[in-house]
Amino acid sequence: MFGKDISKAVAFLNKDDLIGFPTETVYGLAANAFSIAAVQKIYQLKKRPTSNPLILHTHSVEAAVKYTSKMNPAAIKLAKSFWPGPLTLLLPKNNLIPDCVTSGSPLVAIRVPNHPVALALLTALDYPLVAPSANPYTRISPTNAQMVDDYFGESLPYILDGGSCAKGIESTIVGFDGDSPIVFRQGAISIDAIEFVVGKVKMKHEVKQEIVTPGMTKLHYAPKTKMHIIENLLDFMNVSPNHKVGFIGMGDRHICHPNLVFVSLSENNDLEEASMNLYQSMYILDSLGLDCIVIKKFPEHGIGRSMNDRIRRATYVSSE
Ligand code: TXA
Ligand code: MG
Repeated sequence: MFGKDISKAVAFLNKDDLIGFPTETVYGLAANAFSIAAVQKIYQLKKRPTSNPLILHTHSVEAAVKYTSKMNPAAIKLAKSFWPGPLTLLLPKNNLIPDCVTSGSPLVAIRVPNHPVALALLTALDYPLVAPSANPYTRISPTNAQMVDDYFGESLPYILDGGSCAKGIESTIVGFDGDSPIVFRQGAISIDAIEFVVGKVKMKHEVKQEIVTPGMTKLHYAPKTKMHIIENLLDFMNVSPNHKVGFIGMGDRHICHPNLVFVSLSENNDLEEASMNLYQSMYILDSLGLDCIVIKKFPEHGIGRSMNDRIRRATYVSSE
């Protein structure tokens, strides 16, 4: 069931139930972060391994600092620049945060989402929320309330409907090696924007790190339909003329073919708009019974880099 009633959402959360709620990135599956029983329900409903920790969501920088034992100068700069917004910081946790939230890690992932409904909800609560993306483990993250409802139906008592997510891709996760920022997950804030605030940053694979982000498995964000990255749609259609193909790209429709469903994420080649539409397009094409979904790489700059990261994962073929 979905609606816009914040007090109803609060009532469910207060009795340790889960709810779906909108953020500017993707919809989250939320529970009271201080209730071990509620946190366990998230792992059960998502079928997510308990070794994969959860992001803590709160309503302000002032609230966020209550849950960490230390914020280094770069973390303070990033928080002040991007919160509320699609940035998650990995910070040393304090005793307020139950171990089940961080899967036993001494670090907690924290973010302040920039969505009016999320902020109204978080402000109405006297505890923070933990919220992974509201999809079953390894599936495409939902960017509207209907997708959440399709995934969980009756097993999720309430979904706060806040429309389509403006960013459409998950938050950028930044952790630290000493005081130096490291990007653990590319996301809705580009590396360029992070570097503008704190100078050159390293990517996770460039540093020897004990910290792991267990959710960043190679096979992730995947539709059930086989998905491939291609260079040229016409070449692909010529090689496989009898395949029913869904194509995801940008710009104008340039090929007509009876077996082709053509989706343009942005007719004006606007990467921000394309990012907003990416997951929803993958999700819709996945429901059409196609033989495959093909996609072209995005320009490797700004949010295009994060989108390329996600489509690499969506097209990853496990060797098992
Ligand atoms: O945009 C987002 O971040 C969305 C919205 C709902 O806020 N949330 C989200 O959560 O993407 P989730 O659970 O789908 O992805 C969180 C990622 C996972 O890869 C997880 O392993 C990592 O963050 N993570 C969470 N807590 C961590 C911790 N303490 N240490 C290392 N990695 C952590
Ligand atoms: Mg997720």
